[in-house]
Amino acid sequence: MHKRTNVRTNGCTDAQMREQIRKRTKTRMNKNTGLHPVLGYFAPSGLGGATHLIKKYSCMRGYPCQGGVYDYGLWAGLQPLAADFLPLYFEANPPMKHPQEPLDESRQGEALLLNSEQGAGKKLYLESYGCQMNFSDSEIVASLLAENGFSTTRNLYESDVILLNTCAIRENAEQRVRTRLRELQHLKKGKPSLVVGVLGCMAERLKDKFLEEEKLVDLVAGPDAYRALPSLIAEVESGQKAVNVLLSLEETYADVSPVRLTGNGISAFISIMRGCDNMCSFCVVPFTRGRERSRDPHSILQEARDLFDAGYREVTLLGQNVDSYLFYGGGPKKEFKALSPEEQSNAVNFAKLLRMVAEINPQLRVRFTTSNPGDMTDAVLESMAAYSNICKYIHLPVQSGSTSVLDRMNRGYNREQYMDRIAAIRRILPDCAISTDIIAGFCGETEEEHQDTVSLMNEVGYDYAYMFEYSERPKTLAARKFKDDVPAESKNRRLKEIIALQTEWSKRRNEEELGKEVEVLVEGLSKKSDQDVFGRTSQYKVVVFPKKHYKAGDYVRVKIHSCTSATLLGNSIE
Ligand code: 5AD
Ligand code: SF4
Repeated sequence: MHKRTNVRTNGCTDAQMREQIRKRTKTRMNKNTGLHPVLGYFAPSGLGGATHLIKKYSCMRGYPCQGGVYDYGLWAGLQPLAADFLPLYFEANPPMKHPQEPLDESRQGEALLLNSEQGAGKKLYLESYGCQMNFSDSEIVASLLAENGFSTTRNLYESDVILLNTCAIRENAEQRVRTRLRELQHLKKGKPSLVVGVLGCMAERLKDKFLEEEKLVDLVAGPDAYRALPSLIAEVESGQKAVNVLLSLEETYADVSPVRLTGNGISAFISIMRGCDNMCSFCVVPFTRGRERSRDPHSILQEARDLFDAGYREVTLLGQNVDSYLFYGGGPKKEFKALSPEEQSNAVNFAKLLRMVAEINPQLRVRFTTSNPGDMTDAVLESMAAYSNICKYIHLPVQSGSTSVLDRMNRGYNREQYMDRIAAIRRILPDCAISTDIIAGFCGETEEEHQDTVSLMNEVGYDYAYMFEYSERPKTLAARKFKDDVPAESKNRRLKEIIALQTEWSKRRNEEELGKEVEVLVEGLSKKSDQDVFGRTSQYKVVVFPKKHYKAGDYVRVKIHSCTSATLLGNSIE
């Protein structure tokens, strides 16, 4: 934090200034005017040009906005007075928290802050992009660095080390990080001792480009190299560039107790495995995160128990393919088959792990993501049916409704096999909500194949879907074998079609809840009104209802009276 005690041009001290900024900005935000709040403050002093800057900066920090065009480093240089105020503004207005989705756009670039006591050591600014796994990894990184005397900050200006935990799944995710790195270069110009590093999925592929060609960063560490971060940072401080992108067959960070950086204190993520062995042809994950490894179930259970004791009421077990989870004491999965029947029966698979976590306490909700249609067994569904605290919600990415496209995607199942899994869910878990991922315009996708996706969506009637245009990723099977030949307009039109169809289905699925009584785990105040709280049903549906005496962590029975495609509205039943 900038520590200034001098009197401001308008006669305020820092403390008064903070209070003014806090009051004015909170009011404006609450009114939801769409105006970025600091402007109201700066505009009268003739700094109206800050609009785009604030928009952009706010956007990067997790505020909802469309992003601006100005470079804040340059602008801050030209406007020293305003530059002084920015840290005050962001101190008064930390980034908003949004409900967490598997790939939540609003959380992209979120800066993370340790909930624990701030130490006196070096300050780490850690920004995360991409999927929940990355956000979860950032909590491991913060923990490893906290052990080495680092404390975290949300203020770029006071940071000694800036780390971006990056995503490579689609091209636009990478683009976002590149833009951010260029912005950070301006900060570095003013503070040469600043260490800027890239972590996560972009590390392996772009290490040379970032370090040598574009000279954007000092440090690059891949997802299995986080234990080396303290020494990598020390290397940079001694004047060298530092890189470690080695992938491991064993690393699961099982012994690292992640610090919970953001979130509501109610719901936390637990990483149960790393990497992926599936080799879907469009997917870069096997190259960026390496081979699949499962984490020791005892450490998973311990982490879940600790969270429950700390007041958490929901854990989400995370993995690229949770149905493939298998722990038999270490060693590669392919050796499992060579074990004796007795050794095999002592192994823990996902169906068993789910039961073990669910038994910690009936008041602890258990979720998981992501399921894989090729690996999801009836045993997993039966575990879900046996425990009311295992949430009745499955994210089961289909990617395409066409068997020929699924074959090119190397997904390992066809349309009929996928529909067989849907039928099993409906049979064993009649009240289960289902969501999916869909890619529009994969290599060679014909109009007919696209229509197969449309018809599958109508057959399943998903509660929710994450939908993407195909984007070619280097090194993947698809990049090597197929041409990315669906014209951009067709990809875009097909994506729009499936989004429109899904919006209808989401609304229809929500309408089915009207008049029902549901159990909601309260997560906090509603974003629209502080007279209401919001929470989720077992089926992951957001419910908003009058606050009364309820608080985060309460289980409340709610009768649903109306809905939109995204939210259910109701009243609590005493
Ligand atoms: N292009 C578009 N979408 C992709 N996904 C993964 N790789 C790509 C790609 N190259 C989507 C898939 C996956 C989700 C996490 O991201 O739908 O399930
Ligand atoms: Fe990628 Fe397929 Fe593995 Fe998912 S299952 S991470 S899509 S390779």
